[in-house]
Amino acid sequence: MKVYLETMGCQMNRLDSELLAGALRRAGHELVAGRREADVVLYNTCSVRDHAEQKVHSRLGADLRRKADSRRRITLGVLGCMAQRLGRELLRRYAALDIVAGPGQLAEVPAMIEAAAAGEQVCAVDPPRSARRGEADNGCDRLDVERDVSLAPQAGQAFVRIMAGCDKRCTYCVVPLVRGPECCRQPDRIVQEVRRLVDAGRTQVTLLGQTVNSYRWSSGETAVSFSDLLARVSAVGGLRRLKFVTSHPIDFRDDVLEAMRDLPGVCPYVHLPAQSGSDAVLRRMARRYSRRQYDELVDRCRAVVPEVVLASDFIVGFPGESEADHQASAELIRRSGFKNSFIFKYSPRPGTPAARLTDDVPTQVKRRRNNELLAVQEEVSLAHNAGCVGRQVEVLVEGPSPRAGKQASPPAPEGTQLVGRTRGDHIVVFDGPDKLTGRYVNVRICGATPLALLGERMQPLAEASGLEER
Ligand code: SAH
Ligand code: SF4
Ligand code: F3S
Repeated sequence: MKVYLETMGCQMNRLDSELLAGALRRAGHELVAGRREADVVLYNTCSVRDHAEQKVHSRLGADLRRKADSRRRITLGVLGCMAQRLGRELLRRYAALDIVAGPGQLAEVPAMIEAAAAGEQVCAVDPPRSARRGEADNGCDRLDVERDVSLAPQAGQAFVRIMAGCDKRCTYCVVPLVRGPECCRQPDRIVQEVRRLVDAGRTQVTLLGQTVNSYRWSSGETAVSFSDLLARVSAVGGLRRLKFVTSHPIDFRDDVLEAMRDLPGVCPYVHLPAQSGSDAVLRRMARRYSRRQYDELVDRCRAVVPEVVLASDFIVGFPGESEADHQASAELIRRSGFKNSFIFKYSPRPGTPAARLTDDVPTQVKRRRNNELLAVQEEVSLAHNAGCVGRQVEVLVEGPSPRAGKQASPPAPEGTQLVGRTRGDHIVVFDGPDKLTGRYVNVRICGATPLALLGERMQPLAEASGLEER
């Protein structure tokens, strides 16, 4: 069958889709780019903000109308976090919906498609977190899914999950509810997966976890910390870059910074969401650190790894956020010199502790604060990026710049405009041939915008020999 699969959430969600796409192909299905031509339409959804869920409802509305009008059989499925959050409620709301599968049940989706084709309505989700306390098998083995290493969303790189779930329980966040309790994969399994990916040509691996640096695994006498894992993974021969997201400030100890400083493969990039610069707000968010602790962590990062690049997330308009709290966030952005920050308007999520607080910051105030923080971050990003001008950087080429085709300027003499990333996760735009996709090139930075570095490719000859060694 022709299957359309749309991914709406975070990197974890994208990796789930990649693994599911592999399973669908193995089951003989064809993945298509347009939902109108598809026999099966699947949404891998996100529940983190209401906006993400509303998008799914509007997509479903259109699909259900098409399904009703069509003579062809169309199978419709909601997968992922929203499926886990709403479960059977989705089937009650949409009688013509065929499949509901939580993030823990994606392996069952190919079989669910068969069942749906036979006319069944199928729903598989985990029991709610409250009912899962004390479970002996918290489901981590199901992370060791078969992986088709030849399928890559981006040439040269791959994501590898090292843990699932989250136990931090920040008061605003739905993730612990939809992704369940934290569980960590066996280090040997992680190393094996990386080995296979590297053998298949991936040279950059990003380790994934909701709080990736909280990773810890033990069995008998052996205990493996996150920095131990970094050492084990970076020892895989042929791996050139090792990145990881997302880090929680509370578990970020110096051993991780030292690994970053001492292990050549570990990239100097830390995504370290702050959420707020105000102690009062941090406390109500249950983030478990104070503003001073966050500042100290930033200072330690810069002291141990001078070239470190930091990025962050912020929520504006959390219940009770005052103008002074908001200014504290702006000040934190300035002080920390983040390369970039994702800034979100607070969205109350059903079932979270913060949903019991009054959502008392009016929408237009949230919008203004969002814009203000974006403007501060833009200034800081530009200053950070301008500081890279004149430097020579190594870029892993991701492919043609998505904006290249839309520009009026004549095509670059050497082919097209390419986009790639540095070890510090900066986006770099420069001219070069398509065939460099998935390769490493040396680029001299000659300009900067808040979003990207602009560069010129250097020494194509020296670089060509560099490619041979991979
Ligand atoms: N595990 C990661 C990412 C969590 S979700 C972490 O802990 O950093 C990604 C981001 O969404 C969060 O960092 C937070 O900034 C934002 N977010 C989470 N819940 C939200 C909510 N209810 N409203 C608005 N933004 C939210
Ligand atoms: Fe959500 Fe907090 Fe867990 Fe991140 S650490 S996923 S924000 S509960
Ligand atoms: Fe990710 Fe959204 Fe789920 S952020 S974990 S897809 S709720």
